[in-house]
Amino acid sequence: MHETAYAKINLALHVRGREPDGYHRLETLFAFAGDGDRLTVAPSDDLGLTIIGEFAPLIDSGNDNLVIRAAQALRARFGVPCGASLHLEKRLPVAAGIGGGSADAAAALRLLRRFWMLPASDEDLFGIARGLGADVPACLASRTVRGEGRGDDLLPAAGRLADFALLLVNPRRPLATASVFGRWDGVDRGPLGNGDPLAAAAAGRNDLETAACTLVPEIAEILRALRATGGVRLVRMSGSGATCFALYAGDDDRARAAARIRSDHPRWWQCETRLR
Ligand code: C5P
Repeated sequence: MHETAYAKINLALHVRGREPDGYHRLETLFAFAGDGDRLTVAPSDDLGLTIIGEFAPLIDSGNDNLVIRAAQALRARFGVPCGASLHLEKRLPVAAGIGGGSADAAAALRLLRRFWMLPASDEDLFGIARGLGADVPACLASRTVRGEGRGDDLLPAAGRLADFALLLVNPRRPLATASVFGRWDGVDRGPLGNGDPLAAAAAGRNDLETAACTLVPEIAEILRALRATGGVRLVRMSGSGATCFALYAGDDDRARAAARIRSDHPRWWQCETRLR
């Protein structure tokens, strides 16, 4: 049994304020790629996780891993008497602004509900997701959705997003979410529009871009490179970075853009995919 932990992108991310607990009040539009990490499960008495893939050496497979924490939370909530042997193929860069651990945790909740045949409702899973991190509820839905509050108050997007081709580019430099939020300049630049998702996103911003570029200046270079590609509809940094994305009407434009960037910047990680 397996699940994909779909890569998350923030089409726009407006930071509206800072709460006394240190979290930030957001307005964001989440969208998801058709590709991501891959989580599989097999029967076991104990709960365990093994990780393979290019980015596996960068993460811990122990009790701090969000997959294990998601599994433990679900097991405790429903009194599950057995374990599970989980196996994660880590295909997405870590600390990269595209969900990563949050998407893995959400995939674990979806997968283990089926695997353990639990009578858990979607609401039950969302409740557990909220306790695991601000992006985990959106990753549980894994479809275009608006996020407010910490990003975990989910509201329907005002319309459907067209089936765009998507290119993700990351400079292979991890960026800790908290350190980027910590450098936000405290200026509320206004709300995110409520209309058609692409139009609202295009008229919107990522308010963490400046802070992230201070920490990883290559982000500005990636944005410039993506903006210079033919047929591009929207270019932006995702989440707290450092991954940036570009939307294209078709796969051909995306393939040309990917080839160009690969040859100019062979060190950068990239993923050619589509919105789901
Ligand atoms: O919720 P999560 O553990 O994914 O958040 C990681 C960090 O990102 C938090 O500790 C916080 O520093 C920052 N964050 C924030 N405001 C949000 C979401 C995350 O400041 N709305």
